[in-house]
Amino acid sequence: MVNKMTFDSRVVSGSSESLEEEIIEKNLRPQYLSQYIGQTSVKKELSIYIEAAKGRQEALDHVLLYGPPGLGKTTMAMVVANEMAVDIRTTSGPAIEKPGDLVALLNDLEAGDILFIDEIHRLPRMVEEMLYSAMEDFYVDIIVGQGPSTHPVHFPLPPFTLIGATTRAGQLSAPLRDRFGIVSHMEYYEIKDLKEIVTRSADIFDTKIHEDGALEIAKRSRGTPRIANRLLKRVRDYAQVQANGVVTREAADAALKMLKVDKKGLDTVDQRLLKLLITGYNGGPVGLSTIAANVGEEIETIEDMVEPYLLQSGFLQRTPRGRIATSLAYQHLGYPEMTNEQ
Ligand SMILES: Nc1ncnc2c1ncn2[C@@H]1O[C@H](COP(=O)(O)OP(=O)(O)O)[C@@H](O)[C@H]1O
Ligand SMILES: [Mg+2]
Repeated sequence: MVNKMTFDSRVVSGSSESLEEEIIEKNLRPQYLSQYIGQTSVKKELSIYIEAAKGRQEALDHVLLYGPPGLGKTTMAMVVANEMAVDIRTTSGPAIEKPGDLVALLNDLEAGDILFIDEIHRLPRMVEEMLYSAMEDFYVDIIVGQGPSTHPVHFPLPPFTLIGATTRAGQLSAPLRDRFGIVSHMEYYEIKDLKEIVTRSADIFDTKIHEDGALEIAKRSRGTPRIANRLLKRVRDYAQVQANGVVTREAADAALKMLKVDKKGLDTVDQRLLKLLITGYNGGPVGLSTIAANVGEEIETIEDMVEPYLLQSGFLQRTPRGRIATSLAYQHLGYPEMTNEQ
């Protein structure tokens, strides 16, 4: 987990860390597919499967949502529950410590209900293995008794839907992955969608926002709604104190500058990472553990939250020997490009 200090220093990290933020997110979350902005292909697919399942009065097939943090996986799980008009139980991989915990969760479900497991790649092995039969044939075998009288008990379950979310589909075992009938990849958002999200959130906050103010925030949100909302909050504070409460482009720009979020949405951690490659290693390649140690972040944080956007936006490249800074990174940070002497 990222600690509080990291969160404070890193305004553009994708994950939500504080309780306050959880509450804000709850208010901002769209409830239905029609309110869910962007992710057009995921929405289209899901809407068909939802309508079909409802038409047959069956539980929806199991759904795996994967993609970087803050792109709306949890939100989508809630939306699916609302669209299906069923209850949803929410938990996470690391929270289910032993098979008994899973049985307790499954035992609570009624036909058609959804069990949402966030960070499903972090399920303990024994729990994961128990999920196989639960997902495929709706039963679990529980071992009861002690010593020589130990025996399995067949425990039937109502048909339910498992929705799993993960930042790392690659870390999921093949048997688990194969049991999801619906696998949806969440993409980084387009700027126009982020702009719409920022405008909608400002409306919920009762904050006046100019179109170019929303656009400025959208452009600097790393393709991520959670970051867009977080930046909006900070810009709103700034505007309230410095600009009559209206989120103009100027207010957005000044506030983001203060937060050290640059024109491309890169923050101090991103910049430190790229500078390390450029000035310390002649552009790379540099291994992930070296990067993490030098930047002062966990390897997992770099891999899940920092690197994906840098890769996607063309500042970083991954090679078998490590990460390298691209010419775009040199240009963006204002370094003359090296002629590789190695
Ligand atoms: N498509 C969307 N439209 C509007 N807001 C969104 C959308 N997707 C995500 N958000 C906002 O971004 C925040 C983070 O989304 P969340 O579902 O928690 O992401 P994830 O589970 O992928 O980390 C939520 O508070 C939600 O308000
Ligand atoms: Mg989530």
